[in-house]
Amino acid sequence: MNATRAAERHLLLNMTANGSLGEGGKELFVVTRGDGPYVYDSGGTRYIDGMSGLYCAQLGYGYAGEIAEAAERQLRELCYSPLWTASAHPAALELARRLAGLAPDGMEHTFFSSGGAEAVETAWKIVRRYHVLRGEPGRTKALARRGAYHGLTLGALSFTDHPELKEPYGPPAVPTTFVANTNRALLPEPLDDAAFTAHLLADAEAAILGAGPENVAMFIAEPVQNRGGCIPPPAGYWEGLRRLADRYGFLLVADEVITGFGRLGEWFGGDRYGARPDLITLAKGITAGYAPMGATMVSARVAEVLNRPGEVLNHGYTFSGHPLCAAIALRALDIMERDRVLDNVRAHQEHLAKRMIALGALPIVADVRGAGYFYAVELAGDREGGAFSEAARAALIHDLIPRRLREAGLLARVYDRAAPLVQIAPPLIAEADLLDRIADIIAATLDEASHRLISLER
Ligand SMILES: Cc1ncc(COP(=O)(O)O)c(C=O)c1O
Repeated sequence: MNATRAAERHLLLNMTANGSLGEGGKELFVVTRGDGPYVYDSGGTRYIDGMSGLYCAQLGYGYAGEIAEAAERQLRELCYSPLWTASAHPAALELARRLAGLAPDGMEHTFFSSGGAEAVETAWKIVRRYHVLRGEPGRTKALARRGAYHGLTLGALSFTDHPELKEPYGPPAVPTTFVANTNRALLPEPLDDAAFTAHLLADAEAAILGAGPENVAMFIAEPVQNRGGCIPPPAGYWEGLRRLADRYGFLLVADEVITGFGRLGEWFGGDRYGARPDLITLAKGITAGYAPMGATMVSARVAEVLNRPGEVLNHGYTFSGHPLCAAIALRALDIMERDRVLDNVRAHQEHLAKRMIALGALPIVADVRGAGYFYAVELAGDREGGAFSEAARAALIHDLIPRRLREAGLLARVYDRAAPLVQIAPPLIAEADLLDRIADIIAATLDEASHRLISLER
């Protein structure tokens, strides 16, 4: 049985029209093996993994031996033990200690989970508990940013701004107001950093006042917003969010599920932008994709309230801090430190930035955004406001561009949701030659797409 038929029979894929597999000649893409920054499909074709899997394979695929050695040692020693009712194990204790050492000052405590959405829900529960314990139970509302993605479980879905993903599942668990994100391209006219920051903070403050400041529990944001296409903040934005949090008494959560562990050249991407959050959510790169894990970090100031003597944290997961995942995370951190992976990103990020920004000269490109090893190229058609006609959308975004990228041996993300774009998040081990190859493939593809756009619209 071929793979497409096998999936149709038994496997429900994420974010996939499972009943339409194979239609229009779209066969299932089956990845069978990885090696360095490359993966291979079931036909043996090699691709540059321009997306680090799903923003998580920070080290690519070449460290299996070392990771397996750490995993085997842990499994032989202790394959499972919970972090439940005053019980723990050495791997989780050590990982929490390591994270506290890497995190911004004052971020000292960690609660482990199995992925990003669980980490976000844990953050919300801790935020709520904090306010209740401080005698402010009325703080039940959240703020997040327009177009943001913070996970798909029912709680985390509250903070994800995407009607298609939310509405089928009823009213959100947490009432959330969405405020302006930091995408300059959405501005009617250009603003400098100071004016843009002031505009964004005024928008956030208006939402806080609208919700009633005494009702607002948390503001959650990514240092660089993924959805909508790698959207960095202007200077002063995170400092301004900190001031608002302090003025109105809510907690600030930095969702670093994507931006953590070197993606932006820092252990915590928020460090690049002066972020001083109260909580941080982590997942993906924490194990470099070698095992599932999430984490919620809590500042000493919040923990002081949460950990009052006798106060029980009524929250938990069977696999919180699973010894295997914790041992793998520790080894992945060892490797990242030993092989100076963050230095590699810092050494090459400017080169990548230059190559990506140069794509802006192509007629089909509306904007190029990003930081570190995380970039998006927003595409524009030639209709009013850069819109694509239906024919051009179908021919280019749903066909030519993804097909050509893959034919040329690059796995990149081609979106057509919040904005039409091509996105990359390459493994952090990538050096200049591989980054050049990625940029060359995108340039050739978008050059061809630009010509096709002109002939389609003629
Ligand atoms: C910023 C952010 N937060 C949370 C999540 C949810 O993580 P997970 O898919 O591990 O539940 C994601 C997933 O992509 C994410 O990008």
